[in-house]
Amino acid sequence: MCGIIGYTGKDAAKDIMLDTLELLEYRGYDSAGIAVCEGEKSQIQVYKCAGRVKDLRNLCEKEEIEGTCGIGHTRWATHGGVSSENAHPHKYGKVTLIHNGIIENYKDLIGKYGLLDQLHSQTDSEVAAAVLSHFYKGDPYEAIRKAVLKLKGTFALGILFEDIPGTIFAIRNVSPIVVTRTDNGMMLASDAAVLGQYSEEYFVLPEFHILELKEEGATLYDLSGETAEPRWLVLDWDTSRSGKDGYPFYMEKEIMEQPEVIRETLQPRIYEGVPYFTQDEIPDHLLRDCERICVVACGTAMHAGLVGKALIHSLVRIHMDVELASEFMYSDIVVDEKTLVIAISQSGETIDTLEALKYAKKNGARTMAIVNVRGASIARESEYVIYTNAGPEIAVASTKAYTTQLAVLYLLAARMAYVRGVFDKERTAAFTRELMRVPEVMKQVLDRREEIHDIARGILDAADVFMIGRGLDYCILLEGSLKLKEISYIHSEAYASGELKHGTIALITEDTPVIAVVTQDKVQSKEFSNIKEVQSRGAEVVLFMKETYTLDKAASFRGVFKLPVMEDEFMVMPASAALQLLAYYVSLDKGLDVDKPRNLAKVVTVE
Ligand code: AGP
Repeated sequence: MCGIIGYTGKDAAKDIMLDTLELLEYRGYDSAGIAVCEGEKSQIQVYKCAGRVKDLRNLCEKEEIEGTCGIGHTRWATHGGVSSENAHPHKYGKVTLIHNGIIENYKDLIGKYGLLDQLHSQTDSEVAAAVLSHFYKGDPYEAIRKAVLKLKGTFALGILFEDIPGTIFAIRNVSPIVVTRTDNGMMLASDAAVLGQYSEEYFVLPEFHILELKEEGATLYDLSGETAEPRWLVLDWDTSRSGKDGYPFYMEKEIMEQPEVIRETLQPRIYEGVPYFTQDEIPDHLLRDCERICVVACGTAMHAGLVGKALIHSLVRIHMDVELASEFMYSDIVVDEKTLVIAISQSGETIDTLEALKYAKKNGARTMAIVNVRGASIARESEYVIYTNAGPEIAVASTKAYTTQLAVLYLLAARMAYVRGVFDKERTAAFTRELMRVPEVMKQVLDRREEIHDIARGILDAADVFMIGRGLDYCILLEGSLKLKEISYIHSEAYASGELKHGTIALITEDTPVIAVVTQDKVQSKEFSNIKEVQSRGAEVVLFMKETYTLDKAASFRGVFKLPVMEDEFMVMPASAALQLLAYYVSLDKGLDVDKPRNLAKVVTVE
């Protein structure tokens, strides 16, 4: 996944593009570049380098860049390593292009158009530029129409033609492009959130429509050449939360925001003490009539789904699956009109999840999305959508999006139990009251973050960390393990603690760090037994447990964090906040870039 930007208007394009590319770095930050149409000569100059946008800005500072029309790109490497040659934009003949997505048949195209010795990079994107150039004889529409019919895969293309100064062309298939008008021109970008400082309205470029962007406006053409009207949307995205507010990293700010944003996700959906989804236009019959639920999601969002599954099983007593979106389409999963498929996604742009959702729809399933970014592709593709109110989540490691996804899932489970008569109103209200306590209990954990910082110091140099728990504790640890891995680069694995003895315990040796979570009354005694099993083999155990549990005097732990008490099924969010902080402090004390870990990006728009 990459970030693309384009500007044409009265203002100098360079700074607008560099500033916006910095906001798009969550989509990838291996390399960056801009191309600018320089004045009347309509020369297109390309400036690009490996590294971050700040490195590109330094490169550009040494140049006289006056043009008022240009395109820009920040890359997450897919085809071809991290280098300035592989950075976008790519220029071929009179065509200069930026690309987000994957051209799956690029090797065939290299052969078909005799490009083998003509290319300067190892990217599929340069091949797309070459194919466009092959068809360009002066008519940009014809060239784009013919070229995209040869491309297989996903693409969001921003295109400049050397002899058409001041005009940006674009076309997309799956990968996103949104368009807005500013005070002095027009812009396109990978997502609307980064345009909030320029405008409050935008439209999504429809797939396989050619966009022509000039200073005075945007024109759309379908592939038959007919004009199309853009559907303008209001950008109701709360950009006020998009600063760091004095924290060293967005991740710390977003961890600390959780009590507030969980409350803001819950409160509007509780009426007379009972969850309601009226504002989301979710009809009760959808929750009452489905015979099975299937979550499709990736990473942290998938971990939220696992908690949702535990809740639905225990509260509603219907079957629920949680499928890795990237596996969903290839596992011959059975879905039908009685299946409710729920796509969970912070960005709403994860291609694996989007494609899984489309596959589910094609097979007759009812679909719902739980998404954070308003108007995102997954939201638009679903019949129903529930937005989490987490606000912009900038850190690559998801925290507040995860816990607000959980907040929605708790509400959904309670509403489903209520409309199905499993819960009466009193039981539903009692569940909802305990759910409403989560923000204050989580804040008690966050207020003790220095205790967790102390625990973090004890695992800074670990090579491998094991995490063990049962039931919901295991779900908590799957997410805690991902957090630790992705921002501290320490290898960590979460295990259902009852499973450890079936092989993996062979890896436990003297001083192996093990993190245990014990919050569930019905399994705590077995969890403590499993802890003894690893301790007897020399493991150094860090324990996060409900504060009401007692420990053997003889037992020794590397650290113990006592969690404030809630009813068992509500312990997930406070315990998750503790593990978020643990991962954060390990990464911070290791001096790593907590917000932008190596190899990662915030939105994965490649399959
Ligand atoms: C979470 O910390 C990761 N950044 C990653 O696993 C993420 O949750 C996953 O890529 C799904 O993203 P989405 O929620 O935007 O679909």
